[in-house]
Amino acid sequence: MGLQSLSLRQFRCFAAVDLNLSPHLNVIEGKNASGKTSILEALYILSRGRSFRTAHLDATVQQGCAGFLLTAQAISQPLPMEISLARQDGHLEVNIAGKVVKGLNQLASVFPVQLLDGQANQLINGGPKYRRQFLDWGTFHVERRFYRTWHSYRQALRQRNILLKATRSGAEVAVWDVELVKHGEELSEIRQRYFQDLCPHVLEFAEQSLDSVSVSVEYRRGWPMGIPFAEALQMWAKKDREFGVTHIGPHRADIVIRVNGQPAQNAISRGQEKVLAAAFLLAQADFYQRESGLSCTLLVDDLAAELDTDHLKRLLQRIDEVGTQVIMTAIESLDTLNEAAGAVFHVKQGDCHRVV
Ligand SMILES: Nc1ncnc2c1ncn2[C@@H]1O[C@H](COP(=O)(O)OP(=O)(O)O)[C@@H](O)[C@H]1O
Ligand SMILES: [Mg+2]
Repeated sequence: MGLQSLSLRQFRCFAAVDLNLSPHLNVIEGKNASGKTSILEALYILSRGRSFRTAHLDATVQQGCAGFLLTAQAISQPLPMEISLARQDGHLEVNIAGKVVKGLNQLASVFPVQLLDGQANQLINGGPKYRRQFLDWGTFHVERRFYRTWHSYRQALRQRNILLKATRSGAEVAVWDVELVKHGEELSEIRQRYFQDLCPHVLEFAEQSLDSVSVSVEYRRGWPMGIPFAEALQMWAKKDREFGVTHIGPHRADIVIRVNGQPAQNAISRGQEKVLAAAFLLAQADFYQRESGLSCTLLVDDLAAELDTDHLKRLLQRIDEVGTQVIMTAIESLDTLNEAAGAVFHVKQGDCHRVV
């Protein structure tokens, strides 16, 4: 899919900007604080209904204005599909193909995005939540049952934790165990199957991106191998009551990444972590495309400046092979980028226009 065009109204430093996008690589060039990341942020909000920079959407409304409007034409057959998101007086309205929709997850299905920014290393060296988010993004888009199961599990977990804090009585807490186990086992099974299918792609992309290293990935489901979830919950019951929180389960799942047999964060440099994170995201975008026949848009912020020409060229070649839409920002004009780009935009003083 991807986007054919994007319009911003009263968003961050932009009063009104209209962009015609390339279905391949789009480069957004501009000085510091010119508004490059804000354009990626607008795209991210159009997909996820929330920002990656602030928990408060109102902070993205242009100063002095009451709301913003983001509109885009998503590439679809036989006609493009209009999506829009309006923030007005603290209220959010989402429109897809002329209809108001309630759930934000519908946006993500029409216009899926993945973000690769300065925080991307966290996929490699950060806490488990970053790898769970990575895994869940793909599982959500490929496995239909995922969202409902994930949602039911979260609800059961929340109720169980509330009871653990309030009563600390085993009998009452056990009532929620039935729900937790049912959805937890299912969630874990869905994730595991997705992970197994994704795994060969991730390893191939990872090993091609980094020279002479072997990469391995292992899924950890959040409770010990070899025992059912229900049994593990009983084993942890006393500790759970003591601390008032559920210690084990799919909410603690992780992916262990090793490079040459060592935990990745000990074995590679920060630059290599970026390259590896990019490989993971690209592999997932590629896999998503193969599985669903649709494509996701990759938002890449300020990465070009951090990679040497060789790694940048390799990344651009991979992007080209995957054939997915990419919107990439850069502080300066780089020949390597511009040669590969389908469209180049300049951002300056609240304006953004296409130059190539
Ligand atoms: N709500 C807002 N209203 C108006 N301007 C804003 C708002 N939020 C941020 N800005 C301004 O937008 C500019 C662009 O920031 P940013 O997108 O981070 O630029 P870049 O990524 O190019 O460095 C900054 O100068 C910032 O002061
Ligand atoms: Mg920026």
